[in-house]
Amino acid sequence: MTKRLVLAYSGGLDTSVAIHWLTAKGYDVIATTIDVGESKDNETLAKRAFGAGAVDVRVIDLKQEFATEFLWPALKANALYQGRYPLATALARPLLAKALCQVADETDAVAIAHGSTGKGNDQVRFDVAIATLRPGTQIVAPAREWGLTRAEEIAYAAEYGIPVQATLDAPFSVDANLWGRSVEGGVLEDPWTSPPEACYEWTENPDTAQPREVAVTFEAGVPVAVDGVQFAPVQLIAEAQAIAGAAGVGRIDLMEDRLVGIKSREIYEAPAATLLIAAHQELEFLTLPRELLQHKAGIEQTFAQTVYNGLWFTPLREALQAYVTSTQAAVTGEVRLRLAHGKVTVVGRKSPYSVYSHDLATYDKGDLFDHTAAVGFIALYGLQSQAYAQAQKAQTHA
Ligand code: ARG
Repeated sequence: MTKRLVLAYSGGLDTSVAIHWLTAKGYDVIATTIDVGESKDNETLAKRAFGAGAVDVRVIDLKQEFATEFLWPALKANALYQGRYPLATALARPLLAKALCQVADETDAVAIAHGSTGKGNDQVRFDVAIATLRPGTQIVAPAREWGLTRAEEIAYAAEYGIPVQATLDAPFSVDANLWGRSVEGGVLEDPWTSPPEACYEWTENPDTAQPREVAVTFEAGVPVAVDGVQFAPVQLIAEAQAIAGAAGVGRIDLMEDRLVGIKSREIYEAPAATLLIAAHQELEFLTLPRELLQHKAGIEQTFAQTVYNGLWFTPLREALQAYVTSTQAAVTGEVRLRLAHGKVTVVGRKSPYSVYSHDLATYDKGDLFDHTAAVGFIALYGLQSQAYAQAQKAQTHA
């Protein structure tokens, strides 16, 4: 009896060869493509999967769920791994794992396979999530086992007549979804080499891009409008990507620390995430009290690390997200940003929940700030520094 296996299928070289390889190992392969915003032609995809030997092909559109259940929580947490990477790939993996487990349940599959290699974070994210959500499932990662180079994969595809589009000179390894593109490999492996223009697809060259201003409106931490026009989540992200990308915003060149210990050079293109996080964070600066902002910054870092390290389906991620969610009620309002030379600069912000008070902050006459209270406050505030300095002095003279 053949065993049913659900494969995360991207349509690329690795997973097309994987269908054949897994079939040869005795599996009935159900090729499953999950759409989280990487625009692809579903018909070509299905044809390719069947051509490689899949018994069934499924395409599942999860863009909406990806936006509201994964990207919005990350945005509320201003989540940036190592302060810079908006986590596009890392955020999609748990959703993919969940969808694969559902297909496995529906088809009574014994195994789930994915195209990750043995050197990256994605294998960890998939394996940990699958083992948590569907214990007992056999996990197969062909690329981790077979050790084929790209050239060997192309030769394998040719030998067995597997329809692929890949050519030997495909320069980079790319993963893309609504929140960004991750680009690695090829000439980028030398951290001293400037990233060639060819590794960017969503952003204009910042040197020549047209600067512009844009406004983003939030309700309780969630972006709802761009330049005053309301959008549903997936469309809003597409709009933000188009605007920021055209202005050359969102290119990231990062020396990254992978969970498996490797340092790697990664290029990201994340115009929507870069713009929305900048706007969201600014609105928090306007609407949240100082102590909360300071404390939340630490939670944000832990949240980003937790997502990066593949721990989405854990009580830790849930607890961090609950904390972040609890801070967002007042994060409502509008932020104006200038996009120029590849940079985002906030130029204005307003909110019905603004903690800023002009009457308190103004240097003009008639302000409401109690100047006599300031004198008393400072006297108490400085008590310990004075006591310490006096004790030091007393000792040196003793
Ligand atoms: N380094 C990133 C991460 O671990 C992205 C890896 C994406 N893969 C790729 N083929 N570029 O989240």
